[in-house]
Amino acid sequence: MLGLARRVKARILLASTSEVYGDPEVHPQPESYWGHVNPIGPRSCYDEGKRVAESLMVAYQKQENVTIRIARIFNTFGPRMHMNDGRVVSNFIIQALQGKPITIYGSGNQTRSFQYVSDLVDGLIALMNSDTSLPVNIGNPEEHTIFNFAQIIQELVGSGSKVENLAKATDDPQQRKPDISRAAELLHWKPKVSMRDGLKKTIDYFRDEIEQERRLRYLKVVEATACTTIPKKCLQNKLQSTKTRYNIETLQ
Ligand SMILES: NC(=O)c1ccc[n+]([C@@H]2O[C@H](COP(=O)([O-])OP(=O)(O)OC[C@H]3O[C@@H](n4cnc5c(N)ncnc54)[C@H](O)[C@@H]3O)[C@@H](O)[C@H]2O)c1
Repeated sequence: MLGLARRVKARILLASTSEVYGDPEVHPQPESYWGHVNPIGPRSCYDEGKRVAESLMVAYQKQENVTIRIARIFNTFGPRMHMNDGRVVSNFIIQALQGKPITIYGSGNQTRSFQYVSDLVDGLIALMNSDTSLPVNIGNPEEHTIFNFAQIIQELVGSGSKVENLAKATDDPQQRKPDISRAAELLHWKPKVSMRDGLKKTIDYFRDEIEQERRLRYLKVVEATACTTIPKKCLQNKLQSTKTRYNIETLQ
């Protein structure tokens, strides 16, 4: 991609990550911090991959005059996340909505700072329109322990799910909070959406997704068991009345 950017003289953005800071010993994390990464741990392919990507960006800028932008993106969430992406936001919301236990890896004392997706998009646009080639943290400094995060999800969902502690994940960073003074100074950007407001929108989205899946499963059963007896028009009406986004062809 850097070769292509050089050839067509494009400005190129690297979606880097807070993972470049590893399990940080400096808190909050400014861009000047070099990080604390285990080079052979289970997260190292991702962490070191992003670190070498930053390194290549800067080398192409210095040697080939490619115009680069580097965003260090902290944990981000919002509607249209995948329900099964395995990360904490989707896992906790789905568990709470389904009344299942909320499972916490480790003690839950580890912290994260979650930003809403629209703030990230605004930050990336501001970065691309800026004239800085320095890495810039894009994240929301509102920091919570994972245990506290689970409690907030329970409260917002109105769920009676219990909290269960599971084994700690290897090399799990114990704290994460962006220092966003560079973004404020160079991009005039800061997040606008609080974690709670963002979570409310995300919970509504997941609630709808779960309901859509339930309706689709029901209609598939209806079709499988009665497609010979229920006229197609009738099934189409059922689909419209459930307001699903699926049409009759999806089910065939
Ligand atoms: N949108 C994003 O946030 C995003 C995007 C792309 C890549 N990534 C990458 O995803 C990876 C994971 O990052 P992370 O550890 O900060 O996020 P994560 O959501 O996987 O975990 C956040 C914290 O929650 C804890 N946790 C406790 N119980 C959990 C449960 N049941 N399910 C999931 N997590 C639980 C984890 O141990 C961790 O401390 C990183 O490599 C990151 O760069 C994140």
